[in-house]
Amino acid sequence: MPIDRLWPEPAADLDDEALLAAYAFPADRTWLRMNFISTLDGAATRQGRSGFLGDDADRRVFGLLRRPAHAVLIAAGTARAQGYRATLVGPRSSAWRVALGLPPQPVLVLVSRSLDLDPTAPMLSDAPVRPIVYTVESAPQERRAALANVADVVTAGSVDVDPVRLRDDLAARGLTRIHAEGGPRLFGSFLAADGVDELCLTLAPALEGGDAPRIAHGARGVPTDMTLTSVLRAGSELLLRYVRSPA
Ligand SMILES: NC(=O)c1ccc[n+]([C@@H]2O[C@H](COP(=O)([O-])OP(=O)(O)OC[C@H]3O[C@@H](n4cnc5c(N)ncnc54)[C@H](OP(=O)(O)O)[C@@H]3O)[C@@H](O)[C@H]2O)c1
Repeated sequence: MPIDRLWPEPAADLDDEALLAAYAFPADRTWLRMNFISTLDGAATRQGRSGFLGDDADRRVFGLLRRPAHAVLIAAGTARAQGYRATLVGPRSSAWRVALGLPPQPVLVLVSRSLDLDPTAPMLSDAPVRPIVYTVESAPQERRAALANVADVVTAGSVDVDPVRLRDDLAARGLTRIHAEGGPRLFGSFLAADGVDELCLTLAPALEGGDAPRIAHGARGVPTDMTLTSVLRAGSELLLRYVRSPA
């Protein structure tokens, strides 16, 4: 299915380079992007998985969004629900990255309070770059020690991982392009801390009904104005890019 740009400059059948240009990270600052898919009635999952909502166009953009990232940030809940491979980008993306002077793979960054993460899971044990796990002071010591064999385990908060501390720590490691893939509670906690710069939202042309979660969930509401920067279309699906409006 071709992906067309409807706005701001209409263009038909965008190639990968045009799509990458449409989603370029700002060059001069730390930037945290959230990427989500939702149905028209706001469901973030089908049968407990977001993957069942996407089509080929969404999967194509999903893959391209990872390509220029320094770090791919995923909450533990989503990592447990969906399972992740050891490598985050495929050979073409790796070659593209290396040609631009980037490491072949972005760094996997996980966020967990409980550290209920299996250190033998391929995403951790076989990762080509040492992953980083952000956690809280009260995280169990044994799990912390087990994960430390395969990842850098960083305390960045007491009750919640503090998005500001996480961003600062990643930036200190030179990881300023942060591509986050959720899930909803991570998005909610990062919104609450004003830690989100951008939302890439695929609007799947479907209704779900039922009691599926929506894309952000948190203890309190945090009204945040967003500004539309591009609208892509693949058939009846819309791929929207919003950035946080200036204060
Ligand atoms: N529609 C979409 O685009 C999309 C995208 C991603 C995920 N999803 C779906 O969302 C579902 C998973 O959602 P979820 O409710 O489990 O939410 P989640 O945000 O994926 O995971 C929540 C867990 O992440 C950790 N966490 C998040 N924020 C934290 C913070 N600030 N500090 C410390 N730990 C933090 C905690 O891990 P611990 O429990 O380990 O302490 C928490 O229990 C799955 O069904 C997945 O398919 C949908």
